Amino acid sequence: MTKQVFPEDFLWGGAVAANQVEGAYLEGGKGLSTVDLLPFGPNRMSLMKGRVDSLVPDPNEFYPSHEAIDFYHRYKEDTALFAEMGFKALRVSIAWARIFPNGNDETPNEEGLQFYDDLFDELLKNSIQPVVTIAHFDVPVHLVEQYGSWRSRELVSFFETYAKTLFVRYKNKVKYWMTFNEINMLLHLPFIGAGLVFKEGENKKQIQYQAAHHQLVASALAVKACHEIIPDAKIGCMLAAGSTYPYTCNPDDVLKGMEMDRESFFFIDVQSRGEYPGYAKRFFKDHNLTVQMEDEDESLLKEHTVDYIGFSYYASRAMSTDQEILNNMTDGNVFASVENPYLEKSEWGWTIDPKGFRITANQLHDRYQKPLFVVENGLGAVDEVNEHGEINDHYRIDYLKKHIEQMAEAIKDGVELIGYTSWGPIDLVSASSGEMKKRYGYIYVEKDNEGGGSMKRIKKKSFDWYKKVIETNGQVL
Ligand code: BG6
Repeated sequence: MTKQVFPEDFLWGGAVAANQVEGAYLEGGKGLSTVDLLPFGPNRMSLMKGRVDSLVPDPNEFYPSHEAIDFYHRYKEDTALFAEMGFKALRVSIAWARIFPNGNDETPNEEGLQFYDDLFDELLKNSIQPVVTIAHFDVPVHLVEQYGSWRSRELVSFFETYAKTLFVRYKNKVKYWMTFNEINMLLHLPFIGAGLVFKEGENKKQIQYQAAHHQLVASALAVKACHEIIPDAKIGCMLAAGSTYPYTCNPDDVLKGMEMDRESFFFIDVQSRGEYPGYAKRFFKDHNLTVQMEDEDESLLKEHTVDYIGFSYYASRAMSTDQEILNNMTDGNVFASVENPYLEKSEWGWTIDPKGFRITANQLHDRYQKPLFVVENGLGAVDEVNEHGEINDHYRIDYLKKHIEQMAEAIKDGVELIGYTSWGPIDLVSASSGEMKKRYGYIYVEKDNEGGGSMKRIKKKSFDWYKKVIETNGQVL
């Protein structure tokens, strides 16, 4: 038993995203989402980067989001398991195309709205706070076809209408909101992050930063609406975080590391500090980028900044200017990083760095001086069911324990933390690979990469472990 470090009202729980758990991809009046076009297999990555030939599912491909883990129909039994672990919060996302099947319909789809009403009621009945991401890697396909998705300014008002609809409907049920999941992902996987599809020869950077501006304005408008409609709610941004270490103390390496961090911080600087930082303006100038802005944008961004900084942390990154070192990049994560010789990696090549969690949390605290919310962290690993039907995921317990210890250190450093929702408390579809085999859960789902399996839920060893962590408010790890 360690000393009490976590605040009494700390929000322990888990995080999922609509497209990775719900399934029922065309049920209940839902329209097609960008993520519904991402197959399992070798074609997935290039699509996520924006090389998309067709906006219709190919009958010869297998699309994991179409059924996912069928949370749409099984949310009650899954919620019962989360409640058994003592969850205080569950982070979910709303599928835009469930509410507005085309993204810009005149009226929202009542069946979609009702589904989330029922889900929130079920959570609240079990004393679990819903923490809601408004957009987690999905855009209604119609908006891609019609407007080129976030490259068009029109998306701003469609998103604003969508967000307002949610605030009005769920104002008595949801008090924690987030606008865009991992908003900086737009620069790495633009189809996933913003529904962007590129034509041959287009200036991708130009399009990405224009789309980023639209999302930033849309985010500010959502913050404004949230504060007006639900004055007692908190609304945050969400960063795919992970500090970049310079490979050596050579100032060139340090500068490159700083620039890499700023590529991500750019988004949060705007969302939290309310203005484009000087380094971004210089970057646009140096790269001949012109971001179109409207007159009111500057004041909108300034006046409607976020209440807290949500972030995911899986790994730190490392950067060098030495070509030889650069030949040795990590292959797993979508964020470019050279191999860090001091650290181990997961089966998917993601660096494991618990201390980096403390470093990242401190860096965000120093920079923004706002409460932080850890809304994703976890280990994707292969789990085996043994002959007794048990899953002994001690490696996951080890990973989480070390990260939670470092989170406690960050709190002792003075970092203000609202909560910790680990990623995928129940096994779900991997965003980057589309696999089921890459599992994060405390609850196993019997389903394989190709879509076969009974979907049965089985508690892993980590289930009871996490239950104890929550019960003791992080004192027993
Ligand atoms: C984050 C996303 O990037 O990492 C999640 O917000 C995602 O949607 C998670 O699932 C883990 O990544 P992956 O690729 O292992 O599923």
